[in-house]
Amino acid sequence: NEKILNERISNEKIPNKRIICELYIRNLDITGQGTVGLEFQAKGEFRIMLSSKECQSYGKTNALVLDIGENITRFRKRNNNDKDDILASTKKHKALLDKKVKRLYWFSLDKKNRRLRYGKGPMQSLLTIFSYDFPPKPSKGIDKYAWIENLRYIAVCGISQEDLNEKSVELKFWSLPVTVDLPPYVIRHKDATLTVLETGKATVIDNLPEECQMLYGNVAGIALNTPDFSDFSDAIECSINTPGMICYEKLKKKSSTFGTPNPKRTYLRVTLGEDQGNSPGVPFVLEIWPSGHYSPIHSHSDSFAIIKVLYNEIVARYYTGLNPEDQKCYNEVIFKQDQITWISDKLYQTHQLYNHTGKMCVTIQCYQYGEKDNDHYEYFDYINDGNIIQNFRPNADWTFSEFKRLIRNEWEEYKYITDKYSSQSKRRNWLFTKRR
Ligand SMILES: [Fe+2]
Repeated sequence: NEKILNERISNEKIPNKRIICELYIRNLDITGQGTVGLEFQAKGEFRIMLSSKECQSYGKTNALVLDIGENITRFRKRNNNDKDDILASTKKHKALLDKKVKRLYWFSLDKKNRRLRYGKGPMQSLLTIFSYDFPPKPSKGIDKYAWIENLRYIAVCGISQEDLNEKSVELKFWSLPVTVDLPPYVIRHKDATLTVLETGKATVIDNLPEECQMLYGNVAGIALNTPDFSDFSDAIECSINTPGMICYEKLKKKSSTFGTPNPKRTYLRVTLGEDQGNSPGVPFVLEIWPSGHYSPIHSHSDSFAIIKVLYNEIVARYYTGLNPEDQKCYNEVIFKQDQITWISDKLYQTHQLYNHTGKMCVTIQCYQYGEKDNDHYEYFDYINDGNIIQNFRPNADWTFSEFKRLIRNEWEEYKYITDKYSSQSKRRNWLFTKRR
């Protein structure tokens, strides 16, 4: 590419040739629309460009350019350095290049709404930093921006082929533009209403990636308390709150799981079934969240997941990434009992779960790697107290059958003792013996 450009413009004096040299990397699936993301630690200013021809376009050829700089970021209508061809610009700090951290920068073209969007982090409208609306199509006469509908080829400028080959720059592509975000709530078909459809506050499973659809069927109908153990949730709560009982003791041992001891940053993991090699750890996990407990901020190895609240409710906080700069959540939602949420490789990937209520909460999560994921990274990454990214292998405190059996035995024993010894001191004595 550089050679072609050099030949074509050898006689012209072009300032900063590196930044206008176009390296074509792929096509849009549909002309005039799509979202292109580049994830990397930028060393210097760069551009993402959309063109109607796969050739060096420097000069006066129409093209769309997102030009991200250290002091200013611009949308351009040609890939040059001319002031006249700037569509819009911003000096907003958030819109500038972050040289210190790895970041996903994305550029969305929406021909139907005649809109450009630029954001950092997950490709969603909530994270749009800067946008530009082209003037509406004139009812009469020439539409001077009709050419945006013919844009098809994606190029990068200021990024080398080696960096792309070695994957130090990763391309993330989405065939649709960033418009209305898919909400984190998944509702049953029978709960969908015209209002929900209009406001977009929840989605039905059919709108989600195929991987999530497969997982949904497995957990949608599941409940915690079943006729064979109708007070299972009371038994777990008792086990969490009573010294000597299994949940209480296990939680105590886990307080350093994520670095410096923190008894509140713990939860219990009970696995269902075997690791089938297609998810980080066992695909189905019951997670038990004592009152006031939370997870660290973590990401999910780019896997897909469906999470259902089986008992009580939980807060989910979403983050743009794991960098220290990203630790302000951009969205916080509450999922109540029986509500379902989802995670994909592109959306809602980095979160923290927090039980803000006065009693325990139980969720079931199921995970799966995406079809194109050949790396199968077996860890969840999280950020520790020292702002360092660490990983943990999703492990099991118990298998489900083992857990249910232990809780049932313990609960029966507890109820028996409670009936037998009405006095607190005798009960405490029993627990003390048990702990030994
Ligand atoms: Fe999670």
